[in-house]
Amino acid sequence: MNIRILKLPHNEYKFWQERIASDDIYLLENMHRWAEELKAIIDKELLQSLEGFAKGSEVCMLVKNCPIGNLPDTPVGSGYIDNDHVMLPAKTLFALFGLMKIMPISYIGENQGRAIRHVVPKISRSNQIGSHGNLEFNFHVDNPDSSIIGEESGRTPCLEFLALYCLRGDAEAVTEVVTLKDVIKFMTHEEINIALSPIFDIKRPESFEDGSPVVKNVPLLTKFDNKYFSRFDFHNIQATNKEGKNLLNTINEILINNVEPLKISLEPGDFLIFKNQETMHKRSLFHPKYNGIDRWLMRLFGMNEVPTSYLYNQLVLKS
Ligand SMILES: [Fe+2]
Repeated sequence: MNIRILKLPHNEYKFWQERIASDDIYLLENMHRWAEELKAIIDKELLQSLEGFAKGSEVCMLVKNCPIGNLPDTPVGSGYIDNDHVMLPAKTLFALFGLMKIMPISYIGENQGRAIRHVVPKISRSNQIGSHGNLEFNFHVDNPDSSIIGEESGRTPCLEFLALYCLRGDAEAVTEVVTLKDVIKFMTHEEINIALSPIFDIKRPESFEDGSPVVKNVPLLTKFDNKYFSRFDFHNIQATNKEGKNLLNTINEILINNVEPLKISLEPGDFLIFKNQETMHKRSLFHPKYNGIDRWLMRLFGMNEVPTSYLYNQLVLKS
């Protein structure tokens, strides 16, 4: 898989180094102002790449050299930290979304409705899968139980963009991203039709706090505007009949044997963004040390347009 790699210029970002108590709405309401400030210091090529991503054909992009600032210890106890401890990267993250014309969103039942999820190895999740765990987290789409593009279910819409902003890396933790197109290339016409049928059940991911209900009889793929979208989730999808079960096995085999994923061990200052429903992503096993400098990513979800009828407030979707 090809990926465009860009770089933010070296800059002290002095104008952003305030440390004030701020909630998510403050970040949201100021993101366009910060986007303008960021615009003033980046070159034309980078600006065009950022502005063109959301509506363009690329599904994944990496921007290196994003500012970090002074960091406290990785919050492995609570898995959470107030925005004011990470103000510089949080502002840059929102400013990048502002430049890309992507609206940040969160979900009321997930990550306690907060915009930024701190993807850290939480001590209480040691030897578990998931964004706060450290075991291998196999290929998936985030929030696969929500309504994907082209599906008229009445359920809350699934995020379109997933961004990871690395504050501290761990060379052992490898993130992989594959494009859905590359997976579909290896599927037969018949297999695609099975994937489009409503014969799959989806468990809610562990990051939701409401006891993992199951969404029943949904398709694995949708087709909209001549493009495919997916809700594949290795850990949370089940088929309700034999064809569906065979298809899930086939997809797993394709993922293991046929596709060439982007493989990246995120480094501090890396901002990786991909189109959630047009890719699948995973993260390898790694061994946290709980010594203050463990792997730490900030995750932010986004949409092209906020579906206002599902909004709980300016940022949070009902789920
Ligand atoms: Fe994920």
